Amino acid sequence: MIGSANISNWLPQAASSQAQGVDAAFYGVYVAGAFAVVLVVGLALTFVRQFRRQRDDERGTPDGRAHPLYQGLWVLAAVAVAVYAFAAGLPGFLDAQSAPWLSYRVLVNTSQEGYKFTYPNGHIADTLHVATGRPVRLDATTVDVIHSLQAPALRLSETVVPGRTAQAWFTASTPGTFDLRSGVYGGERYQDMKTAVVAHAPADFEAWMQRVSDIFAGRTMEQAGELLYGTKGCRACHSLDGSKLVGPSFKDVYGFEFDTREGVRITADAAYIRASILTPNVSVIAGFEPVMTPYEGKITDKEIEAITAWLRTLSSKGGVPAAADSTGAAPVAATVAEAAAQEGK
Ligand code: HEC
Repeated sequence: MIGSANISNWLPQAASSQAQGVDAAFYGVYVAGAFAVVLVVGLALTFVRQFRRQRDDERGTPDGRAHPLYQGLWVLAAVAVAVYAFAAGLPGFLDAQSAPWLSYRVLVNTSQEGYKFTYPNGHIADTLHVATGRPVRLDATTVDVIHSLQAPALRLSETVVPGRTAQAWFTASTPGTFDLRSGVYGGERYQDMKTAVVAHAPADFEAWMQRVSDIFAGRTMEQAGELLYGTKGCRACHSLDGSKLVGPSFKDVYGFEFDTREGVRITADAAYIRASILTPNVSVIAGFEPVMTPYEGKITDKEIEAITAWLRTLSSKGGVPAAADSTGAAPVAATVAEAAAQEGK
């Protein structure tokens, strides 16, 4: 059978659900090509013998022209191979164009420095980890020159052109570690343009994700808070520059006083911020609608602590020395005085 174990050693291990279709088309074209080589070489040798220079009395038919039927068959056979190659490749090609609905989406950032993969929860890694049996969609961009994503074992190949988002998808079928590299020369450090796709059984994948996406590892609470602002979706409704979006800006919230729609004056201290995140609609800041998503059950205490620590750095009443920014560093004396006032509370 074509594609059976022994001759499939010619191709890399097949580790994705797409591999079968790709391999079948490959072998089909391969067999047609091999047949054509045998036929052409065979005919050439036969004709060398048949039409060699002969004495007149040895010659059979004086006219050596081919029968029109053979000419026609020859053309038809060539067309048939071309049609087969097209028909065999088309379904796989179309399938590769659009990822299944609800694929696991990973953003791929390529540059001459290598690959960066951003997972749905915000975790960034330089290797691509996936779960077997689950379609994975890659949205790839490049910040410098043209690169590509080639994973032979997954039968995946996609060129990443500057200024565009290249899309590719695959479903890993076998756990293992497979090569992923660029097939396009991208400058001096081209040899570094390689990494790995690690396909895990689904449970192992979840465990890996849990382990690596501990956002507190290697970050201060403030840095973790800033990261959560993006990954928890706060960014959509809260600005950092004082401008009003759906919700109040996070600039100067911590430690400030606000009126609620119920006519109560509150101070946005740690306890109020915590309540605002868990059950925001219990007490709604005046001038805003009660539209914030309650985060109860979707956020941990430690994450709230991190966000609060970060909000302090954004507030002139946060008691944290402001980092020098475009508006200039806050005068040191004022900051220290404020810090002291904060502690005296
Ligand atoms: C869908 C939009 C939306 C999202 C997403 C959202 N918020 Fe809000 N948030 C609001 C609105 C509107 C208010 C003002 C009304 C209220 O108090 O509920 C608010 C109020 C707050 C307040 C009180 C502000 C003050 O001036 O006292 C805090 C703190 C807060 N949000 C934190 C967060 C955090 C942290 C996140 C992300 C984990 C988040 N919000 C996500 C819309 C949103």
